Amino acid sequence: MDGDDGYFGESVAATYDRTESDMFAPDVVDTTAGFLADLAGGGRALELGIGTGRIALPLARRGVEVQGIDLSRAMAARLREKPGGDAIGVTIGDFARTRVDGTFSVAYLVFNTIMNLTTQEEQVACFRNAAAHLEPGGCFVVEVMTPELRRLPPGQNVVPYHVSPTRWAFDLYDVATQATSSNYIEVVDGRGEYRTIPFRYVWPSELDLMARLAGLRLRERWEGWTREPFTSESPRHVSVWEKPAGSP
Ligand SMILES: C[S@@+](CC[C@H](N)C(=O)[O-])C[C@H]1O[C@@H](n2cnc3c(N)ncnc32)[C@H](O)[C@@H]1O
Repeated sequence: MDGDDGYFGESVAATYDRTESDMFAPDVVDTTAGFLADLAGGGRALELGIGTGRIALPLARRGVEVQGIDLSRAMAARLREKPGGDAIGVTIGDFARTRVDGTFSVAYLVFNTIMNLTTQEEQVACFRNAAAHLEPGGCFVVEVMTPELRRLPPGQNVVPYHVSPTRWAFDLYDVATQATSSNYIEVVDGRGEYRTIPFRYVWPSELDLMARLAGLRLRERWEGWTREPFTSESPRHVSVWEKPAGSP
């Protein structure tokens, strides 16, 4: 943890946009923003965990008014210093409970960030909070990986995914609580430095129940932003729940 900024403090914020991940590829970002702009349909959008504006900025460039919530002042500061960043209001706080004025036609939580809430209770609270911001007919969109439990042999609680003389990386699982963590050991000058980030993995069907608890119903579920079918082999999903017209 990095003080009040959670796991996205100054050192992470400084390099976040240089992350070598497909998620930063221009076509991925553009497709994501296009999907969300269509759902916004001229209304306002709220991003939970807005970060440095990877999606919020291109969405705003499409003419959508975007607001965001984030715990990390360091991430929000990076967003603010980018062109167009000053037009996006960011409220600092926990997106499971923090309220923003007004209502929105779309609220969204992308890049596995629902997993940053490490208990079922917090994830349910997040759905309730998102729903409370939506106008009737509005949508909540979540992009998250499908839990990778098939990589975990019975009796084992660890999945290593990188081992070299200077860097070890592995995920730990507790299948009873769905608690998981990503763990990294870097060896510099013969000394190891350990970093761990906790998550809670969550199933699509469990998210549907959380949505129902929040008064939302499933409208669409895809493997990705280009609306590929979601199947038992899909590594992740983009799910859209709707607040029924006539809801309070
Ligand atoms: C993986 S980054 C994603 C940022 C951005 N949405 C994107 O797609 O690039 C996760 C972001 O969520 C924020 N975050 C994590 N847990 C949070 C919480 N409980 N409340 C508010 N923000 C949170 C982090 O500070 C970070 O900026």
